[in-house]
Amino acid sequence: MSAMRTLVRGGTVVSATGRRRADVLIEGERIVALLAGDDRGTTERAVGGDGEVDRVIDATGRYVLPGGVDVHTHLELPVSGTVSADDYTTGTRAALLGGTTTIVDYAGQDRGGGLLEGVERWRARAAGRTCGDHAFHLMVTDVRPDVLEEMADVVAAGVTSFKLFTAYPDTNYSDDGRILAAMQRCAELGATVMMHAENGIAIDVLRAQAIARGDTEPIHHLLTRPVSFEAEAVHRAVVLAEVAGCELVIVHISSADALAEAVAGRDRGLPVFAETCPQYLWLAIEDVPDGIDGARLVCSPPLRWRRDGHQDVLWDGIATGRVDVVGTDHCPFTWEDKLRGRGDFTRIPNGVGVIEHRLDLLHQGVVDGRLSLERFVEVACTAPARLAGLHPRKGEIAVGADADLVVYDPAATHRLSALTHHMAVDHSAFEGLEVTGRTETVLLRGRVVVEDGEHVGAPGDGREVPRGPNTLPMAEPGGG
Ligand code: URP
Ligand code: ZN
Ligand code: ZN
Repeated sequence: MSAMRTLVRGGTVVSATGRRRADVLIEGERIVALLAGDDRGTTERAVGGDGEVDRVIDATGRYVLPGGVDVHTHLELPVSGTVSADDYTTGTRAALLGGTTTIVDYAGQDRGGGLLEGVERWRARAAGRTCGDHAFHLMVTDVRPDVLEEMADVVAAGVTSFKLFTAYPDTNYSDDGRILAAMQRCAELGATVMMHAENGIAIDVLRAQAIARGDTEPIHHLLTRPVSFEAEAVHRAVVLAEVAGCELVIVHISSADALAEAVAGRDRGLPVFAETCPQYLWLAIEDVPDGIDGARLVCSPPLRWRRDGHQDVLWDGIATGRVDVVGTDHCPFTWEDKLRGRGDFTRIPNGVGVIEHRLDLLHQGVVDGRLSLERFVEVACTAPARLAGLHPRKGEIAVGADADLVVYDPAATHRLSALTHHMAVDHSAFEGLEVTGRTETVLLRGRVVVEDGEHVGAPGDGREVPRGPNTLPMAEPGGG
């Protein structure tokens, strides 16, 4: 039986380097031709007319984007007696509906446990249940000599990045010595360190003091995690990575000060990469309501003051190349779970739901003149695919690549709301925000899985994608 042929016709194909009118021809799971120009004859000659393809998707007036790649998600993440609300099916379905066809989720090591058993546990949870493609990083929460040895087996198993934490002393934290040892091992193995950089030891002192004073509301979560504790931890991570000689990604950067420390490392010629997330671009402490309602905006690192200009600096960092990728750190909890923190903000499970909105929130930046259309594609699709070692199979519309395509309507407006989103969470961090631009049709390896904004695929459509090393080039010192 010959492979199914699909033609995506009449759209503007956007890449990290430009845009052009082109038709995309797909055979089976791969892109086989990009037929350029306004001359319909090019396509007719190559394809042999509409009758010679099985399906034609009209993309007239639309952008045709590479499927989005979200390199930072936490689906079904066990956290202090509960679990993040989106499972592998609901989370990847919401991702597809928002134009993200591949996620890189964080598997985790149990303290006292091994690394591969963590990877295998997460793999078993995801297997046969994802609607889009997936891959894994691994959170290392217990750096021991045997664990350092085992890191080689994890890389051999296709998980090429390890998350380390200077935060969360009770659960995930590693001290500087353990971080250095793990970084040295990453350097030997050609693996990448993903760093959660906040000074968790110092934060815990401020948290205990706040609770003792009776400052127990969600807002005090934000006020006990100062910008300086994030910037200091980024600085420390860069210094340790420099000594170790490893590649370092500072994940979920929330502040101008933290970004400046990452950029300072890069400007010294170090392979330091920066990730931010839509919540830090769009939301701020000023948006946090009084009382327990503020729990819906509790995440770590926390939101920052808009009046101090952090959002503008992060947007500018995206536009100029100082920020390399935009992931989501998608980690939503139901309102019932968030209420665990009533009367004690330290008990609020951390995280917000963003996986469905990443492309729209970034595209709104294009509409608002904050970044170019090409840069939008780069930070949402191409650069994350490179960072995760998934490029050129993912993140690019090119002959031979997986046919993961998003037909995106740049003019459609819609309002983000818990009433209409598809994430399995009963509140929205972005409630009421109107955005221009919407995912209309999505193809996953050549199959239509979203049609007119409706999911038409099924759990199990997704597969784990093998990862290689990071291929994201180091940025030029001083800029993009
Ligand atoms: O609040 C957050 N970010 N929760 C997810 C865990 C993490 O640190 O990335
Ligand atoms: Zn983190
Ligand atoms: Zn995270």
